[in-house]
Amino acid sequence: MADSSEDQASAKCTNQQTPLGRLATLNSVATMPPGQRILPMSNTDIVIDPADGVGAYISGFDLADAANTNEVGVLREALGEYGVLFFRGQALTEKQHISLAEAFGDININRFFPMVDGQPKIAEVRKEPSQSINIGSIWHTDHSYDEVPAMGSILVSRITPKRGGDTVFSNMFLAYEHLSEGLKETLLQLNAVHSSRHVFGDKATGGKRFNNAEAATQDSVHPMVIAHPISGKKALYVNPQFTIGIKGWHDTESKPLLDMLYQHSIRPEFTHRFKWHKGSIAFWDNRATWHCALNDYPTETRLMHRITVEGEALHPAHA
Ligand code: SIN
Repeated sequence: MADSSEDQASAKCTNQQTPLGRLATLNSVATMPPGQRILPMSNTDIVIDPADGVGAYISGFDLADAANTNEVGVLREALGEYGVLFFRGQALTEKQHISLAEAFGDININRFFPMVDGQPKIAEVRKEPSQSINIGSIWHTDHSYDEVPAMGSILVSRITPKRGGDTVFSNMFLAYEHLSEGLKETLLQLNAVHSSRHVFGDKATGGKRFNNAEAATQDSVHPMVIAHPISGKKALYVNPQFTIGIKGWHDTESKPLLDMLYQHSIRPEFTHRFKWHKGSIAFWDNRATWHCALNDYPTETRLMHRITVEGEALHPAHA
């Protein structure tokens, strides 16, 4: 199965692929496509503004309270529809971050990431000025190497660089939808193999940023096109970082098809670049999106807190 650091390098997201023109600015809906929805709740109105490419900006309520209200159901449905939810101006404490995640499911304690001091349920995504490599700079969806991949992650910004450090998301519903009918039919029949070994194991090329290399023994097989567990929509389910081949195919056969799918899936019209500010939060669904963290802030610190929520077994989509 293919596993080369060169392939991984070519799957990095760069400023070039994701021009600043596609950036949604703080509190601005100028870049939003039409389609705003306002959902009246008992004590608030949730406003959903679809973003260009992927995701939706959610406003109108305080996430610190979300764990106690029926808004959780609304957010879950929005995840199934839009793939990633963006929030501004939130002020979640670590405890509130945990409660919010627990409202969506059990927390997956990541065995590879360093943890926040005293909060083992929160993984730390940190880059210091002295470090050249960042975490997450290759397009991926988290935990696809697990037999039951995590549903999603809630990423909270704690320290943001003065400029740079954006995260780019890509839409796996659109990526599938915009393939030819012939290729769609073929992909519906196929499974892909995913692995954690080359990323978190002792031969990993990404530097010594992770813990427990000996625990990187997971391989899993998933349908290449899944029926999304919430919305039932068809989503392409392979990714440049963790997918290592198509089951039953030789590498020489599988690599060209996967490479083509990877290039196709990051077409600008399927992506959205999210700029982090104090109080920004992104909640993504791993079964509907990829993400990639830009590494363009060489002399600054960036610190994010991530909680990952457990998912469910994935099922193939049908024609
Ligand atoms: C990740 O890949 O989970 C981290 C994304 C980010 O730091 O923006």
